[in-house]
Amino acid sequence: QEPRMIIVEVVGAKKNVALVRLNRPEALNALCSQLMDELAVALLKLDMNTEIRVIVLTGNEKAFAAGADIKEMRELEFAQVFGGGYLANWSALSDVKKPVIAAVNGFALGGGSELALMCDIIYAGDTAQFGQPEVNVGTMPGAGGTQRWPRFTSKSFAMEVCLTGSRITAHEAKDAGLVNRVYPAADLVAETIKLAEKIAEKSPIIVQTIKESVNSAYETTLNQGLRMERRLFHSTFATNDRKEGMKAFSEKRTPEWTSS
Ligand code: HXC
Repeated sequence: QEPRMIIVEVVGAKKNVALVRLNRPEALNALCSQLMDELAVALLKLDMNTEIRVIVLTGNEKAFAAGADIKEMRELEFAQVFGGGYLANWSALSDVKKPVIAAVNGFALGGGSELALMCDIIYAGDTAQFGQPEVNVGTMPGAGGTQRWPRFTSKSFAMEVCLTGSRITAHEAKDAGLVNRVYPAADLVAETIKLAEKIAEKSPIIVQTIKESVNSAYETTLNQGLRMERRLFHSTFATNDRKEGMKAFSEKRTPEWTSS
């Protein structure tokens, strides 16, 4: 069945970047179950598709996503969310092995902000606004907000964002270390695709290994992470692309990756 709440396009000069657009503009891309199911299915497919090297996730100029769908959540009871595994389909994004880059324009609030924080890199348009307003509707971040904000910014910054529910601008998010670059809103997606294309030039198997290693910095102690990194580094010596990369360097030519 074709997805209705997201749009997937293949973009880039070499057609090796997937652009996934959240497309529920009438609700500012509020993340209802159907949208999240469609997103999970699409991401799984794209992760398996060997033509695709990098995924860009975006919304529209008004909203990346204004949060989980409050109208859908409103009537839920504890037993339903606990027993029904509410938000289980939200883990798909952080399971993707290829790089996922968020291009955030407009509102990235609540679950929308958490979705951006699950991506590997965040670029923002100058009108972007990030926030965790859950506190204003009597709940709390439930898709990583209280865990990723302190790791990506600081405890103090995370506390302010999560406890006040106030929104911060793209530039404040950049100063806090959450966002790498800020572009005029109209240029954001094109600039993000350029970044994706740059990563898409590299060996996919090596890119995936590096992503896994960087992520382990957020999931383990320093010592375990360093040991993991060393082992992953060793594992690159089992690849043809490591041989090809070093050979090409010596022969002063561009490497030809085979992702093997
Ligand atoms: C459901 C939403 C929505 C949301 C916006 N809409 N956000 N519907 N869930 N999170 C709907 C509105 O109801 C409205 O529909 C339409 O989108 C346009 O929104 P407006 O409010 O009219 O637009 P505007 O005045 O420009 O205000 C924009 C806004 C505001 C400031 C972003 O919509 C807002 O405060 N939204 C809620 C933000 C929020 O609290 N997010 C956190 C949700 S909790 P109608 O039909 O009325 O026109 C959460 C929990 C995460 O995310 C837990 C883990 C995932």
